[in-house]
Amino acid sequence: MTDPQTVAENRPSMLARLMAGIASHAPHVTAGPIDDAPTPDEPGHPEYHRRQRAEFALGRWTTAVPYRYQDATATHAEILAWADRAADDYRSAGFLVLTGPIGTGKTHQAYGALRRIAEAGPKRFEMIATTAPDMYGRLRPGGSEHGTEHELKRLCRIPLLLLDDLGTEKLSEWTEEATTRLVNERYNECLPLIITTNFPVRAATGAPSTDLVTRLGDRLASRLAQTSTVVQLDGPDLRRGLRSVS
Ligand SMILES: Nc1ncnc2c1ncn2[C@@H]1O[C@H](COP(=O)(O)OP(=O)(O)O)[C@@H](O)[C@H]1O
Ligand SMILES: [Mg+2]
Repeated sequence: MTDPQTVAENRPSMLARLMAGIASHAPHVTAGPIDDAPTPDEPGHPEYHRRQRAEFALGRWTTAVPYRYQDATATHAEILAWADRAADDYRSAGFLVLTGPIGTGKTHQAYGALRRIAEAGPKRFEMIATTAPDMYGRLRPGGSEHGTEHELKRLCRIPLLLLDDLGTEKLSEWTEEATTRLVNERYNECLPLIITTNFPVRAATGAPSTDLVTRLGDRLASRLAQTSTVVQLDGPDLRRGLRSVS
């Protein structure tokens, strides 16, 4: 006769029987890793957040850009390369100087470069675009609400600054001082600066002295020459082409 204690020991435990029962009834499902990684259209994906930043930056770009240049797109390879460096890291881009005769598309390319940066969706997108004469007007005592120093600091610190038509006016001692401080400060902080000018950075030897060096002075021009990507735009006056069709 079998001893009752041995029978109890040989009987499968309640838990084992329960597990066996579940296994025999449950559908055959193997647990595995769950793929809940966000797609590029969902929050959490880097591309989703890049697009959000780009949308915000393009909004700011549109607000800062005059109506005529709302469609501006950079097409020049060197300008595109500069904009991509700036979008990657503002502090590594240096200055961008666009020179060339009137109507060759300097302002168009400059706004286009800023658009390219906005489209990349940088972490921070703040820009000021001004013509040099407007800037001097605002820097003059009484020319801006908060005063010259405040205005100059704002221009020194803004991450992206476009100074259109630099050198149009011969600099007075005062405007040279303001321009030197601005360029120096941005140079020291490694902040980008886009300049457009009708004057070559340095005229060919023997040419009449109508270059940035003579317009801005040696100190300033040497800073620019040292840190700038200089792009010469040539070709016909695009405004003439526009006039003949309008
Ligand atoms: N790539 C381009 N595509 C379309 N229009 C352009 C282009 N480049 C310049 N323009 C137009 O030609 C005109 C002259 O260009 P602009 O950038 O103002 O010249 P600049 O600043 O060299 O004097 C402007 O009306 C501008 O909108
Ligand atoms: Mg222009």
